[in-house]
Amino acid sequence: MIINNLKLEGKSSEDIANLIYEELKKIDTTKNNVLITIPENYKEVSNHLDKFNFEGFVKTSILEDKDDKNITIDILGKENFVIAIDGPSASGKSTVAKEIAKILDISYLDTGAMYRAFTYYLLKENISLTEEEIKKVIGNINIDIEKDSVILNGEDISKKIRGDEVTKNVSKVSAISIVREVLVDSQRNISKGKSIVLDGRDIGTVVFPNAKYKFFITATAEERAMRRFKDEKSSLNKSYEEILEDLKARDVLDSNREISPLRQAEDAHLIDSTEMTLREVVEKIINIIRGIDV
Ligand code: DC
Repeated sequence: MIINNLKLEGKSSEDIANLIYEELKKIDTTKNNVLITIPENYKEVSNHLDKFNFEGFVKTSILEDKDDKNITIDILGKENFVIAIDGPSASGKSTVAKEIAKILDISYLDTGAMYRAFTYYLLKENISLTEEEIKKVIGNINIDIEKDSVILNGEDISKKIRGDEVTKNVSKVSAISIVREVLVDSQRNISKGKSIVLDGRDIGTVVFPNAKYKFFITATAEERAMRRFKDEKSSLNKSYEEILEDLKARDVLDSNREISPLRQAEDAHLIDSTEMTLREVVEKIINIIRGIDV
């Protein structure tokens, strides 16, 4: 729902906040997200809005749009909601998911990082990557995700999980059913009682089949490999061709495994980002959530 017909001339930010509040009273705000666009010199409006004891609102947040010098205020419905973002490796979904969480001021969970943390533990402890062996140690693995950090049994392993060995083995580990059971359970627990964006492979199909918003972000393998090559040029000693090969191999494993393979949920919005910038992808998703784009 959008509010954009406010008469602003000669009014203070506080007056405008009052006007908006009157408009909001007419809307079922427990269910609808509301978008308000006003010129950037009315930044204070959002602070005034925050002071109202909104029955039925969670919060206001601001996206400053540098191009048209407007600010947008999102008022999110009181009901918590899940945004599921799935897609293949290196489709940009983590960057997009993080940005969406920032704009809407809600939580974010990188589920791939959890599979990576699990894989890191198994490799470090020299445990063979079989269901039988993993079952024996599963109780010893404690993964915490705090903001951008991944903590395994108290150790910050955020950087280590991006290494080549983990990347090579993570598809194999994530195809094992006990691993998925434990991590899916944990993802549902972490998401309880809040609005949250999760990115992964099976969020819209398995973890949250009833998610309010579902997106499937893809791009050609060549484009994804090129993005990874540019991103990691300095840290990975790999050619574009090697990255492309690895990526294709991971696509095959992730898409063909028996349990929860990577696939688009029927009710997910498909976004092919091959010819789009990440900013354009973010804008498209935000507009769909706001009900402007369908
Ligand atoms: O998104 P990523 O590249 O960090 O994910 C690492 C691996 O984890 C990926 O190969 C597939 C697996 N994964 C999964 O099976 N299910 C998820 N929800 C997230 C990731």
